[in-house]
Amino acid sequence: MTSRVLQPVRGMNDQLPADLPLWHRLEGEVRALLHSYGYDEIRVPIVEQTQLFSRAIGEYTDVVEKEMYSFTDQGGEQLTLRPEATAGVVRAVISNGMLRGARLKLWCAGPMFRHERPQKGRYRQFHQVSVEAIGFAGPDVDAELILLGTALWRRLGIAPVSLSINSLGTASARAAYRAVLQDYFRGYYAELDDDSRRRLDGNPLRILDSKNPDLQKIIAAAPSLSDHLDGESAEHFGTLQGLLGDAGVAFTVNPRLVRGLDYYSRTVFEWTTTALGAQDAICSGGRYDGLIQVLGGEPTPAIGFAMGLERIVSLMQHCGAAAPVPAPDVYVIAEGDRALSRAMRLAEHLRTERPGWQVQVNLGGGNFKAQFRRAAKMGARVALILGDRELERDVVGLKVLAGGQQGEQLELRPAELPGAIDAHL
Ligand code: HAM
Repeated sequence: MTSRVLQPVRGMNDQLPADLPLWHRLEGEVRALLHSYGYDEIRVPIVEQTQLFSRAIGEYTDVVEKEMYSFTDQGGEQLTLRPEATAGVVRAVISNGMLRGARLKLWCAGPMFRHERPQKGRYRQFHQVSVEAIGFAGPDVDAELILLGTALWRRLGIAPVSLSINSLGTASARAAYRAVLQDYFRGYYAELDDDSRRRLDGNPLRILDSKNPDLQKIIAAAPSLSDHLDGESAEHFGTLQGLLGDAGVAFTVNPRLVRGLDYYSRTVFEWTTTALGAQDAICSGGRYDGLIQVLGGEPTPAIGFAMGLERIVSLMQHCGAAAPVPAPDVYVIAEGDRALSRAMRLAEHLRTERPGWQVQVNLGGGNFKAQFRRAAKMGARVALILGDRELERDVVGLKVLAGGQQGEQLELRPAELPGAIDAHL
């Protein structure tokens, strides 16, 4: 009797060994770049209290309204798989007493969970690197964060990537604008869809984000946030634009960019690409000056962004980026029990002498021919051969399996091996 094969949860992907070299390359570049800008890693739990996210992200957002994986645990606690990292990082900074007027530059990587409709580039488990600068009022740090993103795209060689920026103003300027928007959209109540009607009272700014084609005309004619910006935010935004211009960063001011999470104020930004289809945002973020206080910390300005790693990996592939799948540097072939013991000791010795090498001993026996076939199939560069003949004379056979000297065969003393292999890798 065969059992039914279980499928993974929809929208949650396995990351297979053949896919991971490109991920590792991306993760390595990100880590190195963040280090060079002075950011330190922080790791926070994947599960948090549900109310952390509803308070931080906002009751009237898509994420909180319909996308959170929430459950009650055995102890009766209401918990949620993190849909993003900012709320958890801010919670950690507060609950670990790290705030106290400090200036923190942090990053956090890992899986996030949103119950969205899966499609290419949009998953229910996806991975982000989130970068957060806490305790900085900007606009200098706003500009620096955007430079950091731009530097990363350049290092990864990905294109086309374009940057949109906007300013949402302070919380009070936004409240005034909100009232203006409510008045405007109430005038079109009969034409609004259910989602927009619901948002009308809770968060009318989100109506501007609607993708419903029937609403685009009404949205296009809506009063613009930029006409209601407070003076300080306008100055902040102006300075940011100047800094970006001086640094040679190309950007578009998009007055319709409002972002889907409620904690933003002032600067918001997003990088999109035309190469990936509908899910075009590869990295987005903004200032969240009010969030820390909302979560019980002392008022502290902050800004950050998060990039979607699946989308960036796709863009790297689109741009022809490749990363070699690891193969054995050395494959040790041994015939007979005595030879196997010797092969294992030899492999241990080589791994110690050259910690960067991948040294594989043939496992599962087989004659010389079968073992050579395995070595070739795995893409090994050098085979070492140990049989009775070699053991008797205390030598090791070396055959070059790949590269310019392919086919070359040598017989060496064990002590000569590391150097001789170096010459063939
Ligand atoms: P977000 O715009 O919700 O912002 O997500 C950031 C990025 O994560 C998006 O630009 C996209 O690349 C990726 N992403 C989001 N949802 C999915 C999905 N379902 N599948 C694949 N990729 C996805 C945030 O999460 C904020 N926490 C960013 C931030 C940090 N703001 C301040 N600090």
